[in-house]
Amino acid sequence: MKTAIITGSSSGIGKALTELLLKQGWFVYGISRSNKISHDLFVHNSVNLSDIKKVESYELPNIFCDEILLVNSAATLGNILPFDKKKTYDLLAEINCNLVSPIILFNKFIKKFNNVKKTIFSISSGAAARPIHSWSTYCASKSGLEQLSQVLKNESINSNLRVFSIHPGIVDTPMQKHIRNTDKKNFPVVDKFIEYHKNKDLTSAKLVAKKLFYLYKNQQNFNELVIYLRNLEIKDSLH
Ligand SMILES: NC(=O)c1ccc[n+]([C@@H]2O[C@H](COP(=O)([O-])OP(=O)(O)OC[C@H]3O[C@@H](n4cnc5c(N)ncnc54)[C@H](OP(=O)(O)O)[C@@H]3O)[C@@H](O)[C@H]2O)c1
Repeated sequence: MKTAIITGSSSGIGKALTELLLKQGWFVYGISRSNKISHDLFVHNSVNLSDIKKVESYELPNIFCDEILLVNSAATLGNILPFDKKKTYDLLAEINCNLVSPIILFNKFIKKFNNVKKTIFSISSGAAARPIHSWSTYCASKSGLEQLSQVLKNESINSNLRVFSIHPGIVDTPMQKHIRNTDKKNFPVVDKFIEYHKNKDLTSAKLVAKKLFYLYKNQQNFNELVIYLRNLEIKDSLH
């Protein structure tokens, strides 16, 4: 049976992909703090990815399969504040969730599924390459994770591992709502995000999930590390 481990399965892109894969008959392990999915093929592991001790001691499930997918979708913008207003506690929680935990999980995943054909989808962002006011930890984490993914890709040539760093575009999820609800005093470009929403520029999480599934099925046709989903045209054959 095809199996996926998905962080951030409780919301937005991670939840939409979990639901799509379950419909396709995959077995899915979801990792997040809360859970909204109940399905015979779904197991939820409650882990706070900001708590490094918990992530360190977390053991990936024992899965016997020929093929496995790890999707790193969990992330947080945390408190959207200029850097000088951020508390040390928040800096650590955000960097741990967005960067340190995925690094630990990627490492555990590659070691545990040593002999299995495996794929990592690391959900990245334009913020990996572009500095955005008041998103300090988020930009730093996404940038760091994209570099790490590049190293993994280079190290895994001719191996049974494929790594993709995926930019989903602007997606209609609770993360975008959190952005729009931020005070302009702390986030001077908030109006731009309110406009995106007003102009219906946001992609649905369901369409993003369909594109991720398409990418997985057709990964042999993609050689690059960074995939921009807005440029990916798919024939929508999934309902
Ligand atoms: N939405 C966009 O426009 C957009 C654009 C570019 C990139 N992205 C990226 O796409 C991915 C998914 O974002 P989204 O928009 O779907 O966000 P979302 O709806 O806010 O979902 C975030 C997910 O991360 C999990 N999470 C957050 N903090 C966590 C923690 N401390 N421990 C465990 N899980 C935690 C949440 O689960 P719990 O709260 O249950 O723990 C939730 O399932 C992220 O990597 C994001 O950076 C999104």
